[in-house]
Amino acid sequence: MKVLLATLRMLSPETAHSIALNSLKLLHKLKLINLFFPYKFSNSPFYFKGLEFKNRLGIAAGLDKNGDFIDSLGALGFGFIEVGTITPKPQSGNSKPRVFRFTDQEAIVNRLGFNNKGVDYLVERVKKRKYSGVLGINIGANKDSKGQKRIDDYIECFQKVSPFADYISVNISSPNTPGLRSFHSKENFLPLFEAIKNTRESERFYNPIFIKLSPDEEQDTIIEITEAIKNFNFDGVIASNTTVEKSNLIVSTTANYSGGLSGKPLLKKSNALLNLVHLNEPELLKIGVGGVHNKESFDMKFEKGASLVQIYTSFIYHGPKIIKKLLK
Ligand SMILES: Cc1cc2nc3c(=O)[nH]c(=O)nc-3n(C[C@H](O)[C@H](O)[C@H](O)COP(=O)(O)O)c2cc1C
Repeated sequence: MKVLLATLRMLSPETAHSIALNSLKLLHKLKLINLFFPYKFSNSPFYFKGLEFKNRLGIAAGLDKNGDFIDSLGALGFGFIEVGTITPKPQSGNSKPRVFRFTDQEAIVNRLGFNNKGVDYLVERVKKRKYSGVLGINIGANKDSKGQKRIDDYIECFQKVSPFADYISVNISSPNTPGLRSFHSKENFLPLFEAIKNTRESERFYNPIFIKLSPDEEQDTIIEITEAIKNFNFDGVIASNTTVEKSNLIVSTTANYSGGLSGKPLLKKSNALLNLVHLNEPELLKIGVGGVHNKESFDMKFEKGASLVQIYTSFIYHGPKIIKKLLK
């Protein structure tokens, strides 16, 4: 396993990502996945709104953007899987290189920009899944959509995925789609939330809706938006997305690392957001994500108010064995 991860690290991050996930898929097809990655941890289920999360650890959005790897990720033992972010139209994202590893700091900077195959493709993948655990679908807007069209994008995705989603997460916090984070301000989130609330009613979607937040907003902004999340009867928040603040990252070159930072250096900031939300809106469900890399940082998320936790970057650095490490 160590050799495999070291070899993958010699490739470009996006190539390594694709090879690793396709290898998992192949192992799953050959029914060998649990021979390589036996999951021998205890599952203690968590129940929310009629959903049974087999355990409290999930894979965060962005790893499987198009729903191509749901069954193999499910076989590794995650308690829930979130796919996306998906947009109405397929889009290729920003130009490469756009993912950067900082191995010694267990960090990643990415500026992918919602590269995805579009919502119709994802729905077909989701329909074909065999995985029976909790599946969240994360929705966003196309890069070229502006004004009302941007809200319409969320609604189109919502309508298309709602028959198949155990929960829907609304991503207003990617730093790589210009202007997306402006949905944290009242004049922008009110029309979006209103449209989502109406669509939830018209689609009779009674499963949870979570709003995924940025760790880079002011406290007052977070207090205002989380109060609205509660008043619109949405179910909770995902805290957090990546940060654009890089003061915690040690960089030795002058290369352009604009984009969102994830992994270990994000832990403190995402925990601060999580705790702020928890203190202000204790009854909202919180999914804690950002910087979890060992048992201690995993447990810390629950102390800060999370009921569920997700990982992304530590899965890239440690592979599937991180699941056992966190859940033991
Ligand atoms: C390469 C990469 C791509 C990501 N893509 C998405 C995405 O499409 N949608 C989203 O909501 N979050 C995305 N994220 C953010 C993660 O879901 C997560 O919130 C963030 O990485 C913090 O968790 P971590 O420190 O465990 O990685 C992405 C993160 C990375 C590293």
